[in-house]
Amino acid sequence: MINGFGITGKKFLITGGAGFIGSSLARIISKNNEVIIFDNLHNNALKNTSLTDNPNLRIVTGNVLDYSTLEKSMDPDIEYLIHCAAIAGVDTVLKNPILTLNVNINGVFNIFKAAGKLTRLKRIIDFSTSEIYGKHAENVDEKALNLSISPEELRWSYAISKLSGEAIARTYYIHEKMPTVTIRPFNIFGPNQIGVGAVHNFVTHAIKELPIIINNNGSQVRSWCYIDDLVKGVLLTLENDIAVGQVYNIGNPDNTLTVYELARMIKLISESSSRIEYRETNYPDVELRIPKIDHAYEQLKFEPEINMEEGLKRTIEWYKIKNGVFH
Ligand SMILES: NC(=O)c1ccc[n+]([C@@H]2O[C@H](COP(=O)([O-])OP(=O)(O)OC[C@H]3O[C@@H](n4cnc5c(N)ncnc54)[C@H](O)[C@@H]3O)[C@@H](O)[C@H]2O)c1
Repeated sequence: MINGFGITGKKFLITGGAGFIGSSLARIISKNNEVIIFDNLHNNALKNTSLTDNPNLRIVTGNVLDYSTLEKSMDPDIEYLIHCAAIAGVDTVLKNPILTLNVNINGVFNIFKAAGKLTRLKRIIDFSTSEIYGKHAENVDEKALNLSISPEELRWSYAISKLSGEAIARTYYIHEKMPTVTIRPFNIFGPNQIGVGAVHNFVTHAIKELPIIINNNGSQVRSWCYIDDLVKGVLLTLENDIAVGQVYNIGNPDNTLTVYELARMIKLISESSSRIEYRETNYPDVELRIPKIDHAYEQLKFEPEINMEEGLKRTIEWYKIKNGVFH
């Protein structure tokens, strides 16, 4: 499916296109479409790819908070806009809580306001997060929002900002008839995840034989989704008009394991002798998070395919090459 993406010869704008998810989408979409990446290069996964050599791809360095640059990059031929630019990852968010709220709320506002001028727009994708389901999220579907997030704890400022983004997207859909789709990704991992995240941290430590540091006691449960499956889900929302106005969980409930089991599996596959260590966090943790993805299956026939072992093998292989470590 990823290789058989059905939209060709169109113009796309991907904000945050230099990041993990945005660059993975750009790689597929730019094979047969023009892609403008709009990114302030706060993170830059593009430097690990040959994407910058692709003549179908143009990079605009800009900040989604800078409305005039953003407006100028809105080429009237753009038909598909994917908004990935955000401040994400618990550690980054805790270090930059004000920036997080600013970029993830005002950035979304700017995007929708500027995109309102695009007369040929067929889709505008907003990236939310599974964090909005809070501390305990067992088989949650899109309607299961039982808010346990609170502004009292800075950890939740990310979830609150993303929920605000969803409200902006929803309001523009209802009041301005904009063709929005909201995606709630659940723990995505894979090659090119240059930022933060447990898989990134554990793999980079494992291949360097450094201690693998688990937050708290490692009994937290997560469902891990390989990047190709997330990309497949997003492409389906671009191809299918039924997706307009919808919110989708995109994740892989079959890849559910504890953080300790994840660390063990990474050690085993990378043949690492790293020790596993634990550290207490001073912020609330998510105990359990497993998505229900029936809505994406029923409307889009979305089915994740890559199991945990295969996803980790591919990921570890990539990190080994990039770190120059070969066994
Ligand atoms: N990776 C996951 O597991 C996951 C899970 C849930 C939600 N998400 C959401 O998916 C989207 C993409 O996440 P990702 O994992 O690729 O993160 P990422 O950090 O790799 O990518 C985000 C990109 O946004 C850019 N950016 C940040 N602030 C910007 C600004 N002010 N102006 C322009 N560009 C800016 C960064 O430079 C980066 O390239 C985000 O909205 C994130 O919240 C990701």
